[in-house]
Amino acid sequence: MRSKITVVGSGFVGSTVAHYIAMHELGDVVLIDIAEGIPQGKALDMCEATPVDGWDVRVTGTNSYEDTANSDIVVITAGLPRKPGMTRDELLAVNMGIVKNVSEQIKKFSPNAIVIVVTNPLDAMVYTAWKVTGFPTNRVVGMAGVLDTARMRWFIADELKVSVEDVQAMVLGGHGDTMVPVTRLATVGGIPLHDLLSQEKIDAIVTRTQNGGAEIVNLLKMGSAYYAPAASVVAMVESILKDKKRILPCAAYLDGEYGVKGVFIGVPTLLGRNGVEKVMEVKFNDSEKAVFQKTVEHVVALTEEVKAKL
Ligand code: NAI
Ligand code: 2OP
Repeated sequence: MRSKITVVGSGFVGSTVAHYIAMHELGDVVLIDIAEGIPQGKALDMCEATPVDGWDVRVTGTNSYEDTANSDIVVITAGLPRKPGMTRDELLAVNMGIVKNVSEQIKKFSPNAIVIVVTNPLDAMVYTAWKVTGFPTNRVVGMAGVLDTARMRWFIADELKVSVEDVQAMVLGGHGDTMVPVTRLATVGGIPLHDLLSQEKIDAIVTRTQNGGAEIVNLLKMGSAYYAPAASVVAMVESILKDKKRILPCAAYLDGEYGVKGVFIGVPTLLGRNGVEKVMEVKFNDSEKAVFQKTVEHVVALTEEVKAKL
């Protein structure tokens, strides 16, 4: 039997996620939105592409949660994207209401699903989805680290003019200005990045990675990135559905790991058929510990805002 993946929000990220899932034949997709006609139109358009490309999947567009029942995975992309000059955090009040409402429906119609949250501000929205669904922590996870790491990998590959395939990097922490690109652990074909680039060049890549979302927002003028975010979501969906047990940086619940308890934040996770099967711990040096502590403080403050509003 094919897996069933619901994507909530049929905007730029949601519809691109649905398209990538179909392209990878990971399962049947239900695209749901409050906007009438949009998920139906986009789903039909994707179905009409399947004979050309030979994908044996069905994409259904709907405004009714009944159609999402018993999904294996639900991806939440519903919510506003930021505009130029805005921070992700400024979206909290409005998007929290949306994620709360969506999470109530997920709990009702897909009580066994694994939930992947994309809506910003990411770390706070994952917490919201977890609280409202009441699902175990392994079944609620946020997408951000795969994207931030992909951006860093691309900047390194572009600087060195090498294949992206051979670039490994790790961006942890909150999905915002305080994110932590751990350059000490970045490698190119197994060679430490610090052996290949000057500190000045590495610092420029770090800054560009931290501003990666804003760079796209400023170029697009309307809306935010969606190709790389959608590809990142689909890497997570694939690792879960195929039980690949990939180690991907995701916003996962910390229960004492890294000395932190009670928040969702970007850390390396082992993603398999049970969702977040393990939080992997990195041994930080003192300066990494200090920057990680800063990002934790930021995410804790955002989480407190959610707690006060829920
Ligand atoms: P978009 O505006 O293109 O799409 C959002 C969709 O959500 C719209 O179609 C809207 O009708 C729908 N929606 C609103 N309320 C809803 C509800 N209650 N139920 C169902 N659907 C609802 O925005 P886009 O570009 O798709 O971004 C979506 C969200 O994802 C934003 O909050 C954005 O900041 C975030 N994002 C997060 C990333 C990450 O790394 N975590 C990366 C990219 C985007
Ligand atoms: C990004 O980093 C909008 O958070 C999203 O592109």
